[in-house]
Amino acid sequence: MSRSINLAVIPGDGIGQEVVAEGLKVLSAALPQDVKLETKEYDFGARRYHATGETLTDADLDELKRHDAILLGAIGDPGVPSGVLERGFLLKLRFAFDHHVNLRPSKLLPGVATPLAGQPEIDFVVVREGTEGPYTGNGGTIRKGTPHEVATEVSVNTAFGVERVVRDAFARAQARPRKKLTLVHKNNVLTFAGHLWTSVFDKVAEEYPEVTTEYIHVDAATIYLVTQPERFDVIVTDNLFGDIITDLAAAVSGGIGVAASGNINPSGEFPSMFEPVHGSAPDIAGQGKADPSATVLSVALLLRHLGHDAEAVRIEDAVSADLAERGDLPARSTSQIGDALAARVAG
Ligand code: NAI
Ligand code: MG
Repeated sequence: MSRSINLAVIPGDGIGQEVVAEGLKVLSAALPQDVKLETKEYDFGARRYHATGETLTDADLDELKRHDAILLGAIGDPGVPSGVLERGFLLKLRFAFDHHVNLRPSKLLPGVATPLAGQPEIDFVVVREGTEGPYTGNGGTIRKGTPHEVATEVSVNTAFGVERVVRDAFARAQARPRKKLTLVHKNNVLTFAGHLWTSVFDKVAEEYPEVTTEYIHVDAATIYLVTQPERFDVIVTDNLFGDIITDLAAAVSGGIGVAASGNINPSGEFPSMFEPVHGSAPDIAGQGKADPSATVLSVALLLRHLGHDAEAVRIEDAVSADLAERGDLPARSTSQIGDALAARVAG
C-alpha cells in the first residue's frame, strides 16, 4: 500500500467530465490524511481530436506511464467518425500498457432494480482478456466499396496471452468465498482458439484443486446470465465474448449507471486504468443527469488495485447505502449524488 497516489485523470467527453469530477471528490474524501493524492488532468478525447487531429501520441504515452494509475471518464462524440477514438485512443492505450485483464464486477445491490424477475442473487466478476482475440487489428480489406468487397478480422490467441489471463482468473476465484470459475467460449465451432483456451484452462485448473470449474458456450452463457445469474462467480473469456457478455451483465445487475471496470496490468509494469463501462452519453451530457456511481465504484477498484482495500470497501458500502435509499428520494443531480457519497465516505 502506497502513501502517495500519483493519478492521471482523463475526464474525456460528454458526461465523462461530470462523473470524473464526482469520482475525484469521493476519492479525496476516502483517503486518509497521510496519503498524498496528486492528480494531473489530460484533455484526450473528441475535443482534442477536433482541435489538433491527435488521439494519443507516443509522447502522451510516455507521460501517462509515469503515473500510478489512470482514471478515465469516457471518450466519444457523434462528430468523430466511428473507430477513430476507439482504435486511436482506447485500444492503443490498452495495447501500449498491456492491459490484458479487463475486470468487470457485477453485483446486484439492495434497492437496485433489475429487469429480471424476482431479486436474484447476482455477484460475479468477468475477467475479459484485453489484448488479443479479434481486437488486434489483424485483418484487411480488398475490393473495398465494390460488390466484391472482402474483409477479414482474424482472432489472435496466443498460449502466453491465454495462460496469463486464465491464471489471473483462477487466482481471483480462489480468493472469493464460492471459489468457482467458468470458462466461456465457443469451442465447438471456433475449434482452434477453443482448443487453446480449453487446454490451458484445464492445465491451470490442476494447480487450483479448491476451485470448482465449468465450461459454457457463449450463446448458452447469455441464457444463463438472464435465467440463472446466481450460478456465476468468476467468468473468464476472450476479448470479444467478454465485451458482449459484460454489457448483458451490466444490464441485469442494475444498469449502466453502476457498472465499473478496470483495465489492469497485473505486473504493475504500466499503470492500470479504471473507468465506468458507459460511454460519453451525448444525449444527457452537460445536464447534470448522469449517475456518477459507476465512476465512484471504478475508483474503488482503483484503490483496491493500489492496495487501499479498506478505503475501497468504504466507497463500495457508501454506494450501496446510497442506492438502497434512492427509491425514497427525489431525483438528484450528478454533483448532489457525488456530495452524498463523499459525505458518507468521510463520515
Ligand atoms: P453510452 O453508454 O454513452 O449511453 C447509452 C445510454 O445510457 C444513453 O441513453 C445514456 O444517456 C445512458 N447512460 C450512460 N451512462 C449513464 C450514466 N452514468 N447515468 C445515466 N445514464 C447513462 O453509450 P453510447 O450512446 O453507445 O455511446 C456514446 C459515445 O460514447 C460514443 O461515442 C461511444 O463510442 C462512446 N463510448 C465510449 C466508451 C469509453 O470511453 N470506454 C464506452 C462506450 C461508449
Ligand atoms: Mg462494450
